[in-house]
Amino acid sequence: MLKEKYQQEIDDILSRYPVKRSALIPLLYVAQRDQGYVTEVAMKEIAQILKLTPPQVYETITFYTMLNLKPVGKFHIQVCKSLMCALVGSDTVIGWIKTKLGIVPAETTADGLFTLSAVECLAACGTAPMMQINDDYYERLTEEKMDRILADLRSTGTSALKSGPYMWPEPIGSADRSSS
Ligand code: FES
Repeated sequence: MLKEKYQQEIDDILSRYPVKRSALIPLLYVAQRDQGYVTEVAMKEIAQILKLTPPQVYETITFYTMLNLKPVGKFHIQVCKSLMCALVGSDTVIGWIKTKLGIVPAETTADGLFTLSAVECLAACGTAPMMQINDDYYERLTEEKMDRILADLRSTGTSALKSGPYMWPEPIGSADRSSS
């Protein structure tokens, strides 16, 4: 149960919101961090905490692509397919992944390492094409970068090519942060 494991964190989150239901997404993130996806049990527990119905929780999860209803691989690759990324090659990025990992969107590699999703705009349109892997952004993608990122993740679990978690506004001097 989430409350048993994360009582303090849940209380802290709830204390930030005068209206309880506003804590829904932060609590869903707690559940997702715990299991890699939001389980049905967690969904019901969160509904109970926030005095919502399970369908109200479910409809929120299905609306946001950053919330998973099924287990995902160790590295969840989310390629943006919205307009700006599509114009500069998100289909090509998905094609590279298909060739290199043998998966299409909604699939996971047999070794459980990589899951691919095609998602809507992740608000890094100026550095398209881009993808998010777990919490980190990778921008201005090229095939060479993709090869390096996948090799890095396999060997060390992280890659120096990441831009880091999305931040707004961007820190001063970071405009070209993903050009390496
Ligand atoms: S269109 Fe891809 S990040 Fe906005």
